[in-house]
Amino acid sequence: METIEKMIEDFKKVLDDSTHTSPETLKHEMIQWLDETLSPRLKQVLEERETQSSSEQTVTPFVVSGKIDYEKVILKFGCTKIDESLIDRVERLTSRGAHVFLRRGFFYAHRDLDKILDCHERGDKFYLYTGRGPSSESLHLGHLIPFLFTKYLQEAFKVPLVIQITDDEKKIWKKLNKEKSKRLGRENVKDIIACGFDASNTFIFSSYATVGGKFYENVVEIADCVTVNKANSTFGFTGEASTAKMIFPSVQAAPSFSSSFPHKLFPDEKKNIPCLIPCAIDQDPYFRLTRDVAPRLDFIKPALIESKFFPALRGNNGKMSASDANSAIYINDSAKDIKRKINSAVTGGRDNLEDQKKYGAKLEEDIPFQYLSFFLEDDAELEHIKKEYGEGRMTTGDVKKRLVQVVTEIVERHRMARAAVTDEMVDAFMTPRPLFE
Ligand code: TRP
Repeated sequence: METIEKMIEDFKKVLDDSTHTSPETLKHEMIQWLDETLSPRLKQVLEERETQSSSEQTVTPFVVSGKIDYEKVILKFGCTKIDESLIDRVERLTSRGAHVFLRRGFFYAHRDLDKILDCHERGDKFYLYTGRGPSSESLHLGHLIPFLFTKYLQEAFKVPLVIQITDDEKKIWKKLNKEKSKRLGRENVKDIIACGFDASNTFIFSSYATVGGKFYENVVEIADCVTVNKANSTFGFTGEASTAKMIFPSVQAAPSFSSSFPHKLFPDEKKNIPCLIPCAIDQDPYFRLTRDVAPRLDFIKPALIESKFFPALRGNNGKMSASDANSAIYINDSAKDIKRKINSAVTGGRDNLEDQKKYGAKLEEDIPFQYLSFFLEDDAELEHIKKEYGEGRMTTGDVKKRLVQVVTEIVERHRMARAAVTDEMVDAFMTPRPLFE
């Protein structure tokens, strides 16, 4: 790549060589050089920069950007790819087909999932742990995904589940005031309950309300194993990070250990009960750290099952952002909003019907098709759309229309379930009580 310095050198040379020419000729030569040499080179430099920065991927619990190469992420993090034989084993042990998110490769990485399956096969107990940082009034489809998947795991393995609402996290990271963070947390709990979790086997808790007693004892034990250097290298903290940021990872880690919960939740307090955490891959750093400290505290390392990210309506590189309501479909969007948003999604369809028929759609760039592959459960219909749309016999309009139907139905079902969630139900889910019964 030509550097800017080199271009300036070249420019000086042009001026030098021109000392004996008339001002008119000089002007002419300069313009010619600007047009023919500098301008194309600058353009090239800028283009190179652009492709470099857009291909550079960042995946941390705080920032996800660039075009994500998911194979690279697991290599970097050191987790393992979920293969067919592991999925087969899940199906065999649960006597049911794997969830679409698993069989279509959306949950694609794991740590020690095989050990959890061994444990289940022996007839031993394990529990599930997941969570949500309450940053918005209502959830969008992407937020719903880990919960829908967790619900499937709970049903398939018939195990207890704890869900942490990290109202403290959003106060620390998003500078939400704590009252708002608590309120959003409770609102989000309603959306979570509406996913259909087993009320007798699910405990939902807010960090603010729960950190104390056994839980706090474990937070301190964990935090005492983590040096400032370790926190800095794991999370990219610098000297400016507040000490609240330093302590929070231990708060997110603690629910991975069964002894963090009051005796009544997990009856045999002395016994370590293995834990499986369904989450998006950006949460891996928290649990890498948790797994590092576990043996030092005589705890079992939590196992993980990790997903890719749900794409934004604006395309694979766009982040679904809370400040841009049009980048995602929210669970409280009206049927009209859903239609409008889906119609404006980025697609891989061709510019005109003729080209579409000739070349077919670029499915890997097509957000409506990708959304269908999450939410359209019928494998045969999805396969049909893939073929017809990919080979140009179906139009973008047809695919969008089908997606509008599918999403509207999901959102409508969720809306009704949520309307039926009462404050008493929220309190019941959030009361510590014996699970495993
Ligand atoms: N940090 C997560 C978020 O920002 C919330 C969370 C807490 C979580 N504990 C978890 C997510 C366990 C997955 C698994 O939303």
